[in-house]
Amino acid sequence: MSRRGHAADLAESVRALRDYFAYLGRSGVLFPIPGAPPPASAKAATILATSPGDPAPAPPAPQATADTLEKIRDDLGDCTRCRLHQTRRNIVFGVGNPKARIVFVGEAPGADEDAKGEPFVGRAGQLLTNMLKAFGLNRSDVYICNVLKCRPPENRDPDPVEAQTCSPFMLRQIRAIRPKVVCALGKHAAHTLLRTTDPITKLRGKAFDFEGTKLVPAFHPAYLLRNPRSQWEARTDLKKVLELAGNGGKP
Ligand code: URA
Repeated sequence: MSRRGHAADLAESVRALRDYFAYLGRSGVLFPIPGAPPPASAKAATILATSPGDPAPAPPAPQATADTLEKIRDDLGDCTRCRLHQTRRNIVFGVGNPKARIVFVGEAPGADEDAKGEPFVGRAGQLLTNMLKAFGLNRSDVYICNVLKCRPPENRDPDPVEAQTCSPFMLRQIRAIRPKVVCALGKHAAHTLLRTTDPITKLRGKAFDFEGTKLVPAFHPAYLLRNPRSQWEARTDLKKVLELAGNGGKP
């Protein structure tokens, strides 16, 4: 994490602590309040503090510092958490609008993405970009990332350890952006996010719940390149994603 990030975190924690101590002070737990009998216990302090005419402010919830894409990227660092770091050229973190209404999650970088450090820039990526364009969207209107941030050699499937090690960063990206809809591209993303092993043919086009956000699985663009006839279904699924997102999918 950057020094500025640490300083901001520290300031936030100090503020939360100060509020909490102020609350404790007001409720007589820290020090006896002149003129009031000392509370026998924290429970008594709560009862005292909440008696009519003396409304106690709710204790501040322990303030979780808002996560940001910058912080997540900092935490990822020059990652060596799994063996994929040995063969990658670049970490492929994610790209797009941090205020996006739609987040697309793919599987893992391929050779082009590994070379450029950006997700979905190869042939499958061009198809995704064109599909977005057909609905009046640019890549910069949405956010695009993958379950894995490093390329598996020979584009093999992610192994369970890699997915388990890397997916927390993708989950944090979604939580930081708080989009209206997550579109899981392909079975790996859908399985990771929905914790199911149902086939993508069964999942695609349906709206699921992911932590209060809509999640729609769709065919992976690489599959669509191999099976162009399925582009019709993909179009229907993307239309659904845009409808659920509102505002034509624009941020
Ligand atoms: N396939 C993916 O799943 N992600 C990419 O970034 C590129 C291809």
